Amino acid sequence: MASLLTDSFGRAVTYLRLSVTDRCDMRCLYCMAENMTFLPREDMLGGEEMQRVAEAFIRSGVRRIRLTGGEPLVRHETLPLIRRLGAWLDRPEGMPGLDEITLTTNGSRLRDNAGALYEAGVRRINVSLDSLRPERFREITRRGNLDQVLDGIRAAREAGLALRINTVAMAGTNDDETDELIRYCGKIGADLCLIETMPMGETGDDRRNRYLPLTELRRDLETRWTLEPLTWRTGGPARYVRVGETGRRLGFITPLTHNFCEGCNRVRLSCTGRLYTCLGQEDGGDLRAVLRAGGSDQDLLAAIGEAIRHKPRGHDFVLDRDTDVISGPQRHMSVTGG
Ligand code: GTP
Ligand code: 5AD
Ligand code: SF4
Repeated sequence: MASLLTDSFGRAVTYLRLSVTDRCDMRCLYCMAENMTFLPREDMLGGEEMQRVAEAFIRSGVRRIRLTGGEPLVRHETLPLIRRLGAWLDRPEGMPGLDEITLTTNGSRLRDNAGALYEAGVRRINVSLDSLRPERFREITRRGNLDQVLDGIRAAREAGLALRINTVAMAGTNDDETDELIRYCGKIGADLCLIETMPMGETGDDRRNRYLPLTELRRDLETRWTLEPLTWRTGGPARYVRVGETGRRLGFITPLTHNFCEGCNRVRLSCTGRLYTCLGQEDGGDLRAVLRAGGSDQDLLAAIGEAIRHKPRGHDFVLDRDTDVISGPQRHMSVTGG
């Protein structure tokens, strides 16, 4: 069955990203518009529909699932879904099953959910945090509360969750804070990952003004920190170094300056049941249509296999400060969860 999930470039899809909702309690400048129109609820997959799709992927060879959004913890079905999928963890060697269930969250509701996430089988999460300064944090997220997120991060550590902090690096916005973020992560025992802004969907903010090539930021960091390249990978886009002074990993996600698509292991299911086989392209398939037409598991697998056969070679995001060219998909990151 593993070949169902192998694309025409020989890449095996072993990782599913599930966007459980496009809704969010923040409006980050690079992600959403201030007045976002969210999708109608009836268009979104229900918890059981998401479970059915996820299980079709697991039976076909997917080993890792990441829940994303929007903010996954604003949806009440998220924790029950994680608990049900948790039944696929710790299966015998050689059997279909999951090595990991994880999530990417903005941290606003972590304080109340961290313990339950650990009990459901989650061991590692990624938390978005673009600034450690309350005023600035509010400006970037347009409505987030820094203390609430820091409390959530503390609760996650206490619950035993390993953490990676995600920071979208923005010129003139938070690029003077990277040292503080490295020190903070060293102190709390978390990894840090810096991300280049990707052009996806209108946000009411001109991304060209904030775009920061991470090659520049890395050169600057190397003047103050000892960065030792690591071969350690998650199969994801991040490339890591170890920060000698803190002992923690520092990752770089560089869709604009370096492409990493040749090693891509993932597909994403939107909250409306559309399968996207690349973050930066429209290709995929409508799994909700199969589910709601009463399709069998075979029908579902056929639709998944067909979409994966046509998985594109890679994205072609462009964001160039010199030529002013910017291009990427019209849909927002929150529809597919990154
Ligand atoms: P791992 O699951 O540990 O590999 O983490 P991750 O980096 O894939 O997950 P996360 O949800 O934290 O995403 C961090 C950033 O990576 C976000 O900006 C995502 O949009 C971006 N990202 C994740 N997968 C891809 C991908 O396949 N292509 C591109 N261009 N960006 C991606
Ligand atoms: N470019 C890069 N990263 C983004 N994220 C959201 N929108 C964008 C974008 N346009 C990040 C969030 C979160 C992760 C899922 O994606 O900060 O950490
Ligand atoms: Fe919400 Fe995450 Fe988008 Fe920020 S980046 S608006 S926290 S989904």
